[in-house]
Amino acid sequence: MRCLLIASLLAGLAAAHVNPNGPVKLRKSLGFGPINPNAAYYSNPYQITTNGFLPHNEDADPMDVAQAFIEDVLRGQLSQSMTFKIRPDSYTDSQTGITHVYVRQMVNGLEVADANMNINIKDGRVLSYGNSFFRGTTPSMMGNPWVAASRHPHREYCEDLTEELVKHHSSFAQSVGDQVPMGNDRVAEYQRHAAPLVHLHESYCQYHELPYEMAESKPSADSADLRPALLQFMIAATPNTEVADGILGKYDEHLEKMTVSSSPHFAPTDAINHMFVDNVPDTVNPVKAHLAYVQVPAKMVKPLSSTLSGRLVFTLFLILKLLANHYRQFEVEMQDNWYEASVSAVAPHRIISVVDWASDSAPIPPPETPKAPATYNVFPWGINDPQDGERSIMKENFDSLASPIGWHSLPYENDPSWNGLKPKGEFYRNTTTTWGNNVFAQENWEGQNSYLTNLRPEADKDMAFDFKYKPKDTDKGDAKDEAYSYINATVSQLFYTSNLVHDLYYRYGFDEVAGNFQQHNFDRGGREGDAVIANAQDGSGFNNANFMTPPDGQNGRMRMYLWNTAIPYRDGDFEAGIVIHELSHGLSTRLTGGPLNSGCLGWGESGGMGEGWGDFLATTIRSTKKYSDYPMGAWAANRETGIRNYPYSLNDTINPSTYKTLDKPGYWGVHAIGEVWAEMLWIVSQRLIAEHGFREDLFPPLPLENGTVPEGDFYRPSTVIPKHGNTLSVQLVLNGMKLQPCQPSFFDARDAIILADEQLTGGENFCTLWKAFSERGLGTDATIIGRTPWGGGVRTDGFAAPAKC
Ligand SMILES: *[C@@H]1O[C@H](CO)[C@@H](O)[C@H](O)[C@H]1NC(C)=O
Ligand SMILES: *[C@@H]1O[C@H](CO)[C@@H](O)[C@H](O)[C@H]1NC(C)=O
Ligand SMILES: *[C@@H]1O[C@H](CO)[C@@H](O)[C@H](O)[C@H]1NC(C)=O
Ligand SMILES: *[C@@H]1O[C@H](CO)[C@@H](O)[C@H](O)[C@H]1NC(C)=O
Repeated sequence: MRCLLIASLLAGLAAAHVNPNGPVKLRKSLGFGPINPNAAYYSNPYQITTNGFLPHNEDADPMDVAQAFIEDVLRGQLSQSMTFKIRPDSYTDSQTGITHVYVRQMVNGLEVADANMNINIKDGRVLSYGNSFFRGTTPSMMGNPWVAASRHPHREYCEDLTEELVKHHSSFAQSVGDQVPMGNDRVAEYQRHAAPLVHLHESYCQYHELPYEMAESKPSADSADLRPALLQFMIAATPNTEVADGILGKYDEHLEKMTVSSSPHFAPTDAINHMFVDNVPDTVNPVKAHLAYVQVPAKMVKPLSSTLSGRLVFTLFLILKLLANHYRQFEVEMQDNWYEASVSAVAPHRIISVVDWASDSAPIPPPETPKAPATYNVFPWGINDPQDGERSIMKENFDSLASPIGWHSLPYENDPSWNGLKPKGEFYRNTTTTWGNNVFAQENWEGQNSYLTNLRPEADKDMAFDFKYKPKDTDKGDAKDEAYSYINATVSQLFYTSNLVHDLYYRYGFDEVAGNFQQHNFDRGGREGDAVIANAQDGSGFNNANFMTPPDGQNGRMRMYLWNTAIPYRDGDFEAGIVIHELSHGLSTRLTGGPLNSGCLGWGESGGMGEGWGDFLATTIRSTKKYSDYPMGAWAANRETGIRNYPYSLNDTINPSTYKTLDKPGYWGVHAIGEVWAEMLWIVSQRLIAEHGFREDLFPPLPLENGTVPEGDFYRPSTVIPKHGNTLSVQLVLNGMKLQPCQPSFFDARDAIILADEQLTGGENFCTLWKAFSERGLGTDATIIGRTPWGGGVRTDGFAAPAKC
């Protein structure tokens, strides 16, 4: 019965794929992992005073403070087999003076991949910290409880999801009078709501059907052979069923072709010892792997110790045991996904967790009848899309602090396209194209990963990028060529918007040490060689956009697509909101949990907020003094209400989202979750604006020649506190990202923003912030029971603010 329903449901979705009104391409993306009930974020001073730790002198070295604090928190647990390391991406924020220290747990010389501490320190005091360290008995290197494991680690989740999917399907079928197949509109609408659920279902349940026996029945003589585990992962991860079938059909052949080599040098004991695997089907680079531990619920190891079944089993997640065998973490770069996954190292090679470093902008909206085409021009900063204003000639208005050499220069040495001689005495190369220290922008019609030789516009002798953009109404068959014909205007626009976003975020604290994207870091710290690769009119899809965020020091990659929601096609590169949303994935991923950890916003509430920050920042950037509601992606999608369920609005009839909304099945995808978070932040920023006013220009004033930044009308006198409500909310949101722990919940992110205000203004907006969050149910009395990794659980809206408010 259940199987039948699911089968017909999937058939319905398959029908939607050939819907003639709009090709639909959903990128397959896996994202899940165990939740760690031991993980906590402490931002209340009473929770931070632990047994023996005392605040240090104001001028104490923050690293000494961190060391003493960690040793205190871990007192009695540290041993020869259980240690920690302070990660090299820890840094001191020059604006707030807060030092963000990132710590990783090490057991038996291997890292525990999901065991992190983030400690925020200022003036010798610990302001807040997050801790997800494993707290049990450390296993011996030899023990291997996985051999005893007979259950799939995600089996309960899978059962739950199947149930929900069936429920969702039948309630929908009822609402349309059990008409299956449904009409095109209905299918599209259904797909919009069910797609995240179906994807989750795939993530959790699909690999039940895979022949584990294959890997199991051929145990390698060498237990350190990682190839079977890797192949098993690829079968589940590849979006290409032919590839999956190919792996299964020629398993041994694939296995033999894959070659493994270890890091070329002898690694010091505390360094991660990487292995590299070549010829992995469906990947573009050798796969990097290393042995590590992850934490999973104990009952997965010893299922018989659990007598409960069904939903109640969630409570048992509170008992964690570290697995005594090895897990491998793969960093798999594929065409459409960039996975960091943990797979059990011994057969059966189960996927324990997986984070996709790629984030899509949006689920595909249902197609609408194309509206009459408008006429467009050039689009300055603040104009969201071609329907919002005219094109005009804008200057390369770079911020001299954020981009000291402008947007069209970079050191010869850091230029991947330069293989000529460096002119004597010159360090920087000046380009005459959309190629610079922050952004490499180009066409990518072929949809591949290469970018160096793709087309870019050439400026004229006056460095003018002045290209025609007048899309013509054509036959559908010619619509793509028509879009191609204005590629020079497209790439120029993408380059311009992306550089301004770089500069803006820089000024609010996304600088080199915080892990920003630059080829050269001007000796200001952080890892360099990671400008954003911005691909315009990417040929790998339609009606979407995505951004891949590897750790600091590796290029971020943005792909913008054409939207075939109208004729002429709409080019996502011209919708600033979409570009800003994508670039904000890079921001939030690098700021949360530290620049070198790209796995903190992978799924559930954290993954959702990763989407929400982008929507909030895009909306804030386009907003004007006169209040207005804003949809997301409305122009590109050719849909008045945009690509989300609701426009962002103060009016709870227009946008009714509250914390409790996340319980709805349609809200099990990161975009829907993100929408709720972005709406909360929208309310927060509007309440701050009511209090502090609005500033049209979000950019802080440029520094004077002696390096000091004048207050202008931007900062309050002699401070770095933005004066106005909208600038202040952007600052608090960014500072909050730096303070929150890896895998933050809504509560953690809210608390981090409130702590950010405490640090920046002395807490003067304490009540404004709490009241604003509580308007949408995220007050002090909000609760959640039974959190699941995909963002499920039973929530209660809390409308209360602290007593003093
Ligand atoms: C690049 O431009 C800068 C500033 O105009 C100039 O000082 C430098 O010499 C130029 N580099 C080259 C190689 O022309
Ligand atoms: C783009 O501009 C270059 C010169 O910068 C020109 O050679 C090329 O033909 C233009 N491409 C299109 C499609 O207009
Ligand atoms: C909220 O929106 C609804 C629906 O558009 C409208 O009827 C109502 O007047 C609005 N409320 C306020 C306070 O503006
Ligand atoms: C920097 O220059 C400004 C304007 O000339 C001046 O008011 C300020 O005191 C200077 N600051 C420092 C630290 O020299």
